[in-house]
Amino acid sequence: MNRISKLPDPQARFKEEAVKRALQFVQSGMKVGLGTGSTAIFATRQIAGLLKTGELRDIVAFATSKATAREAVLLGIPLLPDDLPGDLDLTIDGADEVDPEMNLIKGGGGALLREKIVAQASKREIIVVDETKPSPRLGTHWPVPIEVIPFGWRSQARYLESLGAHCLIRMNRNETTFVTDSGNMILDCRFGPIPDARQLADALTRRAGIVEHGLFIGMATDLIVAGASGVQHRARQA
Ligand code: A5P
Repeated sequence: MNRISKLPDPQARFKEEAVKRALQFVQSGMKVGLGTGSTAIFATRQIAGLLKTGELRDIVAFATSKATAREAVLLGIPLLPDDLPGDLDLTIDGADEVDPEMNLIKGGGGALLREKIVAQASKREIIVVDETKPSPRLGTHWPVPIEVIPFGWRSQARYLESLGAHCLIRMNRNETTFVTDSGNMILDCRFGPIPDARQLADALTRRAGIVEHGLFIGMATDLIVAGASGVQHRARQA
């Protein structure tokens, strides 16, 4: 079976351990969604390793971002076409913040739109995180990434500020505006601890010009948290 590498950084080691636990749910013949980010990338790499050794066979994957798709292609994982024929058996993805009800903030890597499309097409959405991600209330530690179309974006920023957010345009390291895989902008909106994340998600969904937001409410079926005290798995009660 796949081995855990001796990563010097404990947080990276926890991420890898969470992914290793999630891989116990992957079986040969499955259609698997590949998440985006520094945690989910371990899943892509470990699946590629298991395909190479023959411990997994006939996996086809669907990536939540161009970056993950590139990595999967490099590692020789067969990918489904972009129109996603049929549902996925499961997806393994990361998160920025997780509340006690397994609601999430996602999109730190800018892939929230594709991640949500893939999550809603997955029978099982397995979220893998290290121990820094759980929080009593979404918004306590992270802003909510909100993907907006460039046309009229300032009116979305005003709207978001009217809801109590402080918004920053996401920028690249070289000071250019970050552009998502679908050609949009991201506003990182700091709300502070969000009293009712579902209500906020509904308000964001109703607004024209907001393409998608990083609140994933009721979408995770499984949560795997790895930390100094071990690896915990929780499944959503049906
Ligand atoms: C990508 O857009 C995100 O949703 C990631 O899943 C999230 O930001 C977690 O990333 P890390 O695993 O790198 O912390």
